[in-house]
Amino acid sequence: MYQSIKERTMNNSDFYNTIFKRKSIRKYKKEPLESSKLMDLQNFMERLMPLYEDIKTEIVILSDKDIKVLLPIRAPHYIAIYSETKNEYLQNAGFMLQQVDLYLSANGMGACWLGLGLPQKESASRNGLEFVIAMAFGYADEPLHRKAQQSSSASHCLKYLL
Ligand SMILES: Cc1cc2nc3c(=O)[nH]c(=O)nc-3n(C[C@H](O)[C@H](O)[C@H](O)COP(=O)(O)O)c2cc1C
Repeated sequence: MYQSIKERTMNNSDFYNTIFKRKSIRKYKKEPLESSKLMDLQNFMERLMPLYEDIKTEIVILSDKDIKVLLPIRAPHYIAIYSETKNEYLQNAGFMLQQVDLYLSANGMGACWLGLGLPQKESASRNGLEFVIAMAFGYADEPLHRKAQQSSSASHCLKYLL
């Protein structure tokens, strides 16, 4: 049965509301997250909805020692997504990690995509899957959410799409 993007992704109303206030976080507290928070995140990541079910992916949590960041964004933790390089694998990876961005923002943590982050050599591929992109995350050392009136371009697009 056909499900719209809204039906497939917005089964958690906190996430829907988070779309309109989330923002990239570029300043992080040094303290790592509690291990219970990391375990909750791990559990959430095991249940992510892919855009394409036939593209094999793995998402892992890395420490700051496992990744080389070429911009001054330093976080206690990073997420890396690895994928088969089939058609549409970039869209699939983006769709999946954006769910993680919303989860973190809805649960009091910050995140930022890192197009300029590279895993250290030993983390560059995983079980035959290629590294796609990383995301920094941790507790924000700046306001976690946008002010109500500053809605992002993404949220304007969503109002038309959903
Ligand atoms: C694929 C991708 C790669 C990105 N890489 C970086 C990056 O390396 N450094 C950075 O500061 N922001 C990066 N961003 C974050 C964007 O710059 C950010 O989404 C944009 O500034 C919009 O701001 P917002 O997330 O607060 O709405 C990236 C975003 C995407 C989608």
